Amino acid sequence: MSKLIVNNCQRLYGKTEIKSAKNAMLPLIAACILLDFEVGFYNCPKISDVLVMLEIIESLGGKYRFEGDVLFVDCSALYLYEIPCELASKIRGSVFMLGPLIARFRKALATMPGGCKIGERPIGLHLDCFKKMGVEIGMGEHLYLRADNLQAKTITLPFKSVGVTENLIMLGCLTDGETTILNPAREPEIVCLCEFLKLFGAKIKGEGGNKIVIQGVKKLRKSSVIFKPVADRIETGTLLLAGLSVGCEMELSGVNYVHNFNLIKKVFNNTCKMCFYSDKIYLKSSGAGKGLGYIKTAPYPYFPTDLQSPVMAYATTLNGTTVIEETIFKDRFSVASELNKMGANVTIRGNVATVNGVNSLTGQEVTASDLRGGASLIIAGLKAEGKTVINNLEVIDRGYYKIENKLKALGAKVERI
Ligand code: EPU
Repeated sequence: MSKLIVNNCQRLYGKTEIKSAKNAMLPLIAACILLDFEVGFYNCPKISDVLVMLEIIESLGGKYRFEGDVLFVDCSALYLYEIPCELASKIRGSVFMLGPLIARFRKALATMPGGCKIGERPIGLHLDCFKKMGVEIGMGEHLYLRADNLQAKTITLPFKSVGVTENLIMLGCLTDGETTILNPAREPEIVCLCEFLKLFGAKIKGEGGNKIVIQGVKKLRKSSVIFKPVADRIETGTLLLAGLSVGCEMELSGVNYVHNFNLIKKVFNNTCKMCFYSDKIYLKSSGAGKGLGYIKTAPYPYFPTDLQSPVMAYATTLNGTTVIEETIFKDRFSVASELNKMGANVTIRGNVATVNGVNSLTGQEVTASDLRGGASLIIAGLKAEGKTVINNLEVIDRGYYKIENKLKALGAKVERI
């Protein structure tokens, strides 16, 4: 098990480039199952969730290789439709492969997907939507999906699910007729997936809005493409919050600030200066600030659940109170007790966390239990007095590529052991 040692940091200073988003890369890798030729992706982070998705591709008969940070995936020889249990159970992203596998083979076999421990993560809505499109589902130890008669349908989602929207888009691409998704999720990673598929002749309209229409085609056309996925807005947000926490002068490049607009609106105050130009965000901050008031997580374009733990860490030392309501995942507050060990004052009642700002945090030995909670402990560690030891660095590696190098480039004293 790896640990991250984080020493108190007075200020972050420097420049760093943001990689392609984890939550864009996972569905994009799944979408390769729809293609019987090789495609490439620029700036791909070699994070463990991406590597597990690639292992699944390989286990199904596909191939992949990295040339520097360009990832090439070739599913031309893919011939299996069973996602191995031990890989499926490692990541939630494995569920994104079901739609493309059904589209390609008209069948799929899998087990329940795994993922971060942030509360129950059912897949019932994925299965209900597949059923509506004519997929027969057998459930026992394994999940058997078979579609002898796939039918395009109009499907109204009862709530905005990112993964379900992505699965339906991928399945709809190769289903005869018009698939319509009403009340879809609108995340930039979904728009990115659609832009990618359209390069090969997929007929999709309305992504990013409240109605997505997919006109099925027989086959997606070959095109020699190296695609640039959308930048990781959660990595961007995490680094901005780290900078705001300790004070900084830093520039993040390769980003689209519009995707972080909701965070920026919340945290911007007269102790910091932010500039946006081209694909860069420049942030200068003295590290102080007032409590943030009320924050409620909600699907894009509202405040992202994935930045809820990092913003909690930021709020621990602000002057005043921040109240955070988590509406997407029930158990996403597990980091609060670790922050409290470090001297924070966070109380949880149901799905609401109240953070009363304290003057300082103290370095402690703490444990990351989920990806974004782990990132939040790094932010806390940077501003805590002394040294913080974060156990279980592996969960942070799921979504942040060599986080220690990025922090070192910004002048932090951190070490992986
Ligand atoms: N849900 C159901 N049934 C389903 C599917 C989802 O009840 O069949 C519930 C979930 O339990 C959750 C809500 O619906 O309460 C929304 O889940 P959604 O399906 O939108 O989440 P996801 O597709 O599994 C993606 C991201 C998550 C991110 C959420 C919400 C990827 C690989 N994962 O998950 O990212 O938190 O959308 O924005 O895209 C992370 O990066 O740390 C992370 C967890």
